Amino acid sequence: MRICRSIEEIRDAVVAARRGGARVGFVPTMGFLHEGHLSLVDLARASGCGFVAVSIFVNPTQFGPNEDFARYPRDEARDIGLLEARGVDVLFLPPVEVVYPAGHTTRVTVAGVSEPLEGERRPGHFEGVATVVLKLFNVVQPDVAAFGHKDAQQCAVIARMVRDLDVPVELVFAETTRERDGLAMSSRNAYLAAEERAQAPRFREALDAGVAAIRRGASTAEAEAAMVASLASHPAFEIDYLRIVDPGTFRTTEERDRELLAVGAVRLGRTRLIDNLRIKPLATEASVQPREAVQSRSNEERS
Ligand code: PAF
Repeated sequence: MRICRSIEEIRDAVVAARRGGARVGFVPTMGFLHEGHLSLVDLARASGCGFVAVSIFVNPTQFGPNEDFARYPRDEARDIGLLEARGVDVLFLPPVEVVYPAGHTTRVTVAGVSEPLEGERRPGHFEGVATVVLKLFNVVQPDVAAFGHKDAQQCAVIARMVRDLDVPVELVFAETTRERDGLAMSSRNAYLAAEERAQAPRFREALDAGVAAIRRGASTAEAEAAMVASLASHPAFEIDYLRIVDPGTFRTTEERDRELLAVGAVRLGRTRLIDNLRIKPLATEASVQPREAVQSRSNEERS
């Protein structure tokens, strides 16, 4: 696996791959990799990419002033080993001054879908995400880019940006990869103390309660109350939000003729966790994603 730290190096590597006839896949990450990230490499390959590039860049512009940028987990040597073992062709590891040279002022704002939920609680977060993702797309110029659906609102923001700005990339999304006990994989799970880790799967169970309520015919408010009630006997959780939303807008809805999302953010001690479950329209069978990890390719429009 070639490691590139400059824009020139990664562009050269991609140009050479394309000259050799390869379709180029790209997986942007912030490192401290887990099986969820590695499944995105597999998804890029399964999408016909003979050449897969991964980036690791802990993007400062998507962290608020009181967030965890400084303590975000980092382990470059371990990440390199994991990517090599997964057959990644090139790793882009830019220093911050390569991504944000002195004097950089341009920011990408995606109105609408970036505003509720995470957008409200993390002002500037999606602007930082959209800016860095567009920059990385411009640097790598991939044919296909893969993202994980655990960050469902991020997927929707990126899809909106790609569509609105005519970015020539095909987006593919992987379902959330979960630990055996149902906890969504996340680099931030590393923050959890042993006792918190033992409680963390109750979060997924709360989302399950919301899904079950919708399937029973409950109103959105009733389903949201069911999610809150499910965590009531677990006082270690501080609920940020637990909502039933339209995945196109991330706003509350009483519509039942479309896919919905049970989506949430909670705090366990100093760790903020997010997760979501899809709820297929009530008329269809098999309305919830399976409990174990499932990788699926989806080019569906999200907004
Ligand atoms: O999901 C992430 O890891 C980040 O938000 C991303 C997409 C790599 C942008 O920094």
